[in-house]
Amino acid sequence: MTFLPENRTVEFESGKLPYDEHGKPESILDVAINSDVHLEHACGGSCACTTCHIIVLEGENNLSPADDDELDRLDMAAGLTLRSRLGCQAVVKGDVRVEIPGWNRNYISEGGKSTLG
Ligand code: FES
Repeated sequence: MTFLPENRTVEFESGKLPYDEHGKPESILDVAINSDVHLEHACGGSCACTTCHIIVLEGENNLSPADDDELDRLDMAAGLTLRSRLGCQAVVKGDVRVEIPGWNRNYISEGGKSTLG
């Protein structure tokens, strides 16, 4: 899968990715952590924030479908698009290109509001 804007392409073999307890196994977040790609995950990948918001550019059919929890959470995401997903919830099953939005990369440093208690 490829991460923009870094344009980093990473490959992994399904079932072989070390799991770091963040997000669903082999989710976009899990792949990012394993590949040293910076993707915020303020809630630790439990679908309780929107900091892992990414935009799918290609390959949405190679991601697990969004469930109701993810869709409800995405409704609160800044800059929501029709191609938005939560990186910790979307499990990668094939070639995917995603963009980590600039406003999301700066989310913490800009003091974005958090719904975490
Ligand atoms: S890391 Fe919080 S919802 Fe994905």
